[in-house]
Amino acid sequence: MNQIRLDKFISERTEYSRSVIKQLVKSGKVLVDGKAAKAADMKIIPGENMVCVDGNEIRESRFRYILLNKPAGYVCSTDDKDGETVMKLLPPEMRTKNMFPAGRLDKDSLGALLITDDGELAHRILAPKSHIPKIYIVKLDRPFESEYINKFKNGITLKDGEQCLPAKVRRAENCEKLAFVELCEGKYHQVKRMFAAVENHVETLMRISLGGLVLPEKLAVGECMELLHKDVENLLKPTDFDDFCARFDPVFSAFLINNQM
Ligand code: URA
Repeated sequence: MNQIRLDKFISERTEYSRSVIKQLVKSGKVLVDGKAAKAADMKIIPGENMVCVDGNEIRESRFRYILLNKPAGYVCSTDDKDGETVMKLLPPEMRTKNMFPAGRLDKDSLGALLITDDGELAHRILAPKSHIPKIYIVKLDRPFESEYINKFKNGITLKDGEQCLPAKVRRAENCEKLAFVELCEGKYHQVKRMFAAVENHVETLMRISLGGLVLPEKLAVGECMELLHKDVENLLKPTDFDDFCARFDPVFSAFLINNQM
């Protein structure tokens, strides 16, 4: 691999300009293999030298994959005409020029959101044909009814007549108003409209997995993390809904009960 200038390496992978990088180097915030970089124009070998800015590793990969635990109040867009966007929540060293949120969560929804510049992967995750399941936990206005299970399984017809693909739903163990839902498609306000179709109402919605990628317990609402290659591969792996709920019911139910109710 060819050597390149440190400031070029960083500026191509972040939103820092070369002049800001120079300042960061001067203040000792840029490390190469664990040692403060001596000059912004020093040469490094991408993939061999480890570069960190302000404690965050700048990765060699062409594409970046950031997992955000989205808080309520931000829109999933790169354009702030409809309000503050999730892009604002990314620290500059995690942003590259062409990043966008891969998929939508409503402004008032929380949870797992992938932000990437890899359009092909985003398409694979979102296309209903690729059957990548997304799991949500919802807090309902009224108690869960066991008849929802078959209704969701047979494909809900929304109030406006639109037909949904078969989906899975299950009540959380210790709370009659919490439910887990698994969908393989992403219609506008889909989970909310599915519960409206069975005469219930979603008060809080949190996405807790994208394919085999589970929102880590340690990732607080509003925080984001760079995904490793193996995490990105997990995205494309199938999950078993019942196993998932059995493992994560206490974790996510506790979160919604303690923080949102
Ligand atoms: N379904 C909804 O209704 N809202 C979301 O944010 C995601 C899925």
